[in-house]
This record gives sequence, structure tokens and C-alpha cells, in this order.
Amino acid sequence: MKKILVTGATGQLGSELTITLRNRYGAENVFAAADKKPALNELTQSGPYYCLDVRDMPVLNQIVETNNIDTIFHLAALLSAVAEQQPQQAWDVNMNGLINVLEISRMHQCALFFPSSIAAFGTETPSMDTPQDTIQRPTTIYGITKVSGELLCDYYHHRFDVDARGLRYPGLISSKTKPGGGTTDYAVDIFYAAIKSQHYECFLRADTQLDMMYMPDAIDAAITLMTADSTQLKHRNAFNVTAMNFTPQQLAAEIQKHIPEFTIAYNVDPLRQAIADSWPRHMNDSAAKAEWDWQAQFDLQAMVKDMLEKIALN
Ligand code: SER
Repeated sequence: MKKILVTGATGQLGSELTITLRNRYGAENVFAAADKKPALNELTQSGPYYCLDVRDMPVLNQIVETNNIDTIFHLAALLSAVAEQQPQQAWDVNMNGLINVLEISRMHQCALFFPSSIAAFGTETPSMDTPQDTIQRPTTIYGITKVSGELLCDYYHHRFDVDARGLRYPGLISSKTKPGGGTTDYAVDIFYAAIKSQHYECFLRADTQLDMMYMPDAIDAAITLMTADSTQLKHRNAFNVTAMNFTPQQLAAEIQKHIPEFTIAYNVDPLRQAIADSWPRHMNDSAAKAEWDWQAQFDLQAMVKDMLEKIALN
């Protein structure tokens, strides 16, 4: 990784991954790109920034060619809840963006990181201890784009020798940038509400158990996979990874240990509840552990303590 492009760089994962990559590989070597006009912030001031719609192949090609990009972290995508409200747009952005990036990777010999998700599974998937290789019949458009993406990345690897690698992320929790339109967003929103008003109204049922991961681990997973010895990788794409596993009720109880007056109520959103109910409860990530030494640092207790400290400082 010498010259790196991050698409979707203003998003929840992109904004922090870009800064970490700049610190590690040199600010001038990490090019942030997103479809938004740049706001003056850490991301745009610490290194190069491009306005890019990933569906725009000529502009994408020009950025990669001009800057001799050799690695692309392709994060631009619509998340599950917004995707369900505009399925055609979600297919367009998520699939046409990915195929463009794969084509660019083929033409310019770039390595490619593609994040898949727990959403790539469906109701027929074993819900507990979900195996690495199992039934994948997602019922959401977001999940359908993720399974298709996993398959396309594998295809470009075996057909064109593109070094495409990827993970199935669980819900991501971060103190810096909020997620935009996901089903697991409650696990971030709850912290802001806990600090501001000591009360949170949750859009998922109290007992909705899902895998989650704190942002430092999510970033570490992406970089560790991309720098892993390729001869050790049997899977390459779509590695199950998880760090912790909880329900809204359990997360609220952990927050109450720090803020005893915190209360939670439930006002279930049927759309997002149905999405969450179609996902597995807990993934088995032993393939990631065996093939590239995946190991999370933050469990529920450590994440909650760190989130509350960081958000209080914001
Ligand atoms: N966190 C994502 C979402 O809720 C899952 O990939 O959409």
C-alpha cells in the first residue's frame, strides 16, 4: 500500500480509516473521495480530497491514474435502512460503484478492500454461530448488494487476478462520525442521548441480539486483512468478523453502570426491526482468526467506557 484511495471517505468508517491510513502511510499518499462537497474538517485539511460519485467511471479512472493509486478501500454505499426506502438507488450506487472500482482495479492492478456485512445473510442462515460458508439468501436490497459484491470480488480475483479482499462487518460503533441510515445505528445514537438527556427511545426491540464492533477494531481489521500474507488466505473475501454481541437492553444496562439515571424506552420501527430480525444473532469468525490472526481488542465493557469518555469530550 503506497498510494491509497478511500471512497465513501466522509462516512462512519471512511472518515476514521482515512485518518489512520494517513498517519501510517503519509498524508500525501492517502486520497479521500466522497460525493459530498468537502467541509473544512480534519479529513479535508489533513490530505488530498476529491469529490467523486463512484458511478462516474471517467472521474474515478482519472483519480487513480493521476495519482498512481495501488490500493482502493471502497466504502461508498447506501446502508440497510436508507437502501430499503430507495431500492433502485441502492442497487445503482452499491453495484455500479463496485463494478467500476473492480474494473479500475483490474485495469490498474490495484488491490481492493470491499466491506460486506451481517446483512449478507438472511432468515434461512443459521442464526447462532453463523458459519463462514453457509446459506445466504438476504431479504433486503442492501443484503442483496452485499452478497453480489462478495461474489463479484471473488470472481474478479479468480478470473482477473485482482487482489480483492473483504470482511463481513457487524454493526459499527464510533465516537467520531455517526452512521448514516443503518439498522444498527441505535448502538451509536444511544450514547449521545445518554449524555445529553439521560434517556433514549430505541427503534429496535429490547431483545434484538446482534454482533457489533468498536471502530478501532473495525479499522484494524481492514488494514490487517489488506496487509496479510496472501498465501495464508483461503477465503480472501467476506470474512465473518465480530467483537461483541448484545441486545439494546444489555447495552442500556452497561451504560447505566456509568450513568445510573439513564433510562431506555422502546418505540419499535417495523422496517428496521424486520431488517434486524432477518440477520444472524452471532457470527462465527474462526476463519478470520485462523487465516490472518483476527483478534478484537474491545468488548462491551471496554467499548461503553471509551464511548462515554470520548463523547463527553466532544
Ligand atoms: N450497520 C449496517 C447497517 O445497519 C450493517 O452493515 O446497515
